[in-house]
Formats: sequence, structure tokens, C-alpha cells
Amino acid sequence: MTRAIYPGSFDPPTFGHLDVIERAARAFGEVLVAVVVNPQKRRPMFTLEERERMLAESTAQLSNVRVCHFRGLLADFVRAEKADVIVKGLRVVSDFESEMSTALMNRSLSDVDTFFLMSDQRYSFVSSSIVKEVFFLGGDVGALVPDPVLRMMSVKRSERSHRNGG
Ligand code: PNS
Repeated sequence: MTRAIYPGSFDPPTFGHLDVIERAARAFGEVLVAVVVNPQKRRPMFTLEERERMLAESTAQLSNVRVCHFRGLLADFVRAEKADVIVKGLRVVSDFESEMSTALMNRSLSDVDTFFLMSDQRYSFVSSSIVKEVFFLGGDVGALVPDPVLRMMSVKRSERSHRNGG
């Protein structure tokens, strides 16, 4: 059975991520969705536990998908989990530029290939950061994220507004 690892920050997961997970679940025997503990880009808005919970609830219907987390090098985690492939999603051609060097580095470190899946074109403009920006400025992102994510984002927004005095 081919075991695939789909790594990411998932801060938060979007329908673009879900689309890639569903495609990977059809193509591979087992898919581990691996949440990076400390994303490189910036401090995450959602805790590790929240990101894992949103993913677990959003993928509950997929029996060969498991949510887990990792810290440090992805290549080390891939080896530890005895995974056969890494899966990454591509939205637009520009995604490929950084993904190519990452894939080559991961292959040189762990001898594991990265399989790229094109996410549905409906989600080619969707990213976690754009979803957060629009949502926290009052925009409607209901068509872009699964319900468990929308609920968690609403909780965050009310926590924020309480902190800021309503
Ligand atoms: O969702 P993201 O933020 O695009 O995911 C990036 C992620 C987590 C896949 C990437 O940053 C990663 O693999 N981090 C682990 C550290 C690592 O192995 N870095 C070297 C890759 S060349």
C-alpha cells in the first residue's frame, strides 16, 4: 500500500487543501496529512491543536486519511513514517518555482519523490492567508473553507473582538 504524506501549515485548511487531500486519497492507499508545528513564514493564527482538529473534522469522511504533525525536517518525518511519496498541491504555475527546489531538496535528503496534484481551478486563487485577511475584515469566505474551519474562524474572531473590548 502506497503511503503518501501531504505536509503544510494549514493555517487554516481551505477547500483547496481539501481538494488535494481528496485527490490524494483516491490515488494512494493511505494519506497522512502532516501539519508542521512551527510554520516558517510567520507565527500561525491557529494553534497546532486547532489546525489538526479542523483537518480531522473536515476529512472525517475519508477513511484512508489520517491527520498528524511533525517538527523539523520533512525529510526526517518521511523516513520515520516510512512514507513512499510526498504530495503537494499546485494552484498556478508560479507555485511550481519554489516547489521544484523543495522537491529536489527533499529527494536528496530522503530519496522520496514529490507528486504534484493540480487543485481544482475553482480554488486557484484561494490561499490560507487571503482567506484570513478577507474573513477578519468582514468578508464572506463560506464558499472557500469547510464548515469546521468557518466555525473555528468565527470563534477566533469573537475571541479577538472580546480582547479588543467588543
Ligand atoms: O503550507 P505551507 O506553509 O506551504 O507548507 C510548507 C511546508 C510545511 C510543507 C514546508 O515549510 C516544510 O516542509 N517545512 C518543514 C521544514 C523542512 O523540511 N524544510 C526544508 C524543505 S526544502
